Amino acid sequence: MFSGKTVCIITGASRGLGKSIALNFSNLFTKDSVFILLARDDKSLSDTKQAISQKCVTQYFDQGTLDQSVFDSLLPRCLNELHVNTEEFEHACIVHNAGTLECEMTEDLVSVQSVSNYFNVNLIGAVALNASFLRVFQHVEHKLVIGISSLAALQPINSWALYCSAKAARDMYFKHVASEYPAIRVLNYAPGPLRTDMLTKTACTESKDPQVLKVFKDLAAKALSCDTSVLKLIEILKGNKFKNGDHVDYYDE
Ligand SMILES: NC(=O)c1ccc[n+]([C@@H]2O[C@H](COP(=O)([O-])OP(=O)(O)OC[C@H]3O[C@@H](n4cnc5c(N)ncnc54)[C@H](OP(=O)(O)O)[C@@H]3O)[C@@H](O)[C@H]2O)c1
Repeated sequence: MFSGKTVCIITGASRGLGKSIALNFSNLFTKDSVFILLARDDKSLSDTKQAISQKCVTQYFDQGTLDQSVFDSLLPRCLNELHVNTEEFEHACIVHNAGTLECEMTEDLVSVQSVSNYFNVNLIGAVALNASFLRVFQHVEHKLVIGISSLAALQPINSWALYCSAKAARDMYFKHVASEYPAIRVLNYAPGPLRTDMLTKTACTESKDPQVLKVFKDLAAKALSCDTSVLKLIEILKGNKFKNGDHVDYYDE
């Protein structure tokens, strides 16, 4: 992927881990590669774009939308704007990074509307975007799908039921992609605790379970920079030894 013309799509590229993935991938990709950066905050997306050395398009994308036409038209519209055809690329890569954290105890998850909104953003939208990616880039020979996962996909964290459930479901969904399409490289990457808004503004202030709140307040001081975690991700990709569809954590050997 780092040696041929690549089209790279990153969700949640406006800040935090997604922005770091975009900038670090840009340092590695060939000059003729292109980036498609997605999120809702146009201004922050433009800031990320400024630091990308390849051709790059940013697009407003709310992953929680139920508007089918968004998923049908998003990628073709971005390719159009970049004046490129899918046949030009040796590699196509998508990083499903966009995500949110909800910190309620299970007995308080009474609102059907907010529970379904949560899964729309964190699960359904990623599934629909990924299907569009698989279709649009079906003739690109080498494809890589990265799901940004979490330790929360493997174990419960009290008051984070929606986050843990969505991450577990995404891991299984991406394992399915790997199983149905063995030629596509698929990785569920758990990036470790990161110094981002999700940790410092949400986990450390809104977690309803007092013990979890304390753990994350303590953890915030020791959290990793996004760049440190992304460099590990790049090492894993370059090593190319992961089993297709596996969950690989920053702290794994
Ligand atoms: N921080 C951690 O300690 C940690 C640990 C393990 C895993 N992760 C995972 O890493 C990923 C990135 O998290 P982060 O820590 O970088 O969080 P963050 O700083 O809060 O960034 C979240 C990103 O997701 C985007 N996003 C949120 N809602 C969206 C929506 N409805 N539609 C489209 N994009 C949306 C945001 O962009 P806009 O607001 O501009 O739309 C933003 O770019 C997430 O999947 C998270 O679960 C984080």
